[in-house]
Amino acid sequence: MSQHPHQNDSASSRTADRSQHDKSYHKSVVLVGLMGAGKTSLGSKLARHMGRPFIDSDTEIERVTNVRIRDIFELGGESHFREIEARTIETILDGPPVILSTGGGAFCQPGVRDLIKQKALSVWLDAPPEILLARIGNTASRPLLHGDNPLKILKSLAEDRNPHYAKADLTLKTDAIGLSHSVTKLAALVTAAIQQSESIDETE
Ligand code: S3P
Repeated sequence: MSQHPHQNDSASSRTADRSQHDKSYHKSVVLVGLMGAGKTSLGSKLARHMGRPFIDSDTEIERVTNVRIRDIFELGGESHFREIEARTIETILDGPPVILSTGGGAFCQPGVRDLIKQKALSVWLDAPPEILLARIGNTASRPLLHGDNPLKILKSLAEDRNPHYAKADLTLKTDAIGLSHSVTKLAALVTAAIQQSESIDETE
């Protein structure tokens, strides 16, 4: 199921009405997409809206290992980072429901993607590479963008990864540089999907 949001007033007010009810939703909501998509920024706002804890997988990796992401890449390479990332996400999804923002490559790892698909509601935050780069600004903390031409790297990552992100349960396009309008859209989209899944559960 891949849905695109149709923002309207009734969706927004329903979102507000149901935020209390959403606390009972038993699955985590996982945000996926390229660097700069707004996973952390929108994820923390969505968590506040839904009354859920928020976890950023990169922050959790840095907390647990006490090593910065760029140093993990430098010391052990990307494959070492991916192993830690997979373990971290699995541990988080084994715990109580949260809003989880994942690093851009996580959902492109088949094992991690299967786990997220099985245990969570996944949302792809999609935006064009030019917008992503404008949002990222300084690329120093993004080891994969270290190179002469970060835009070219982002375009190539988008080409490789978008088919994987498209397997998420929901898609939200966030084309503007600012993300303020996207919060309401994301909340409405997630709430509608939760309501739909709960009504399916009730009829089973
Ligand atoms: C990565 C994205 C980063 C971080 C790491 C690798 C990627 O997270 O996990 O640098 O493979 O796209 P953000 O998407 O939060 O920047």
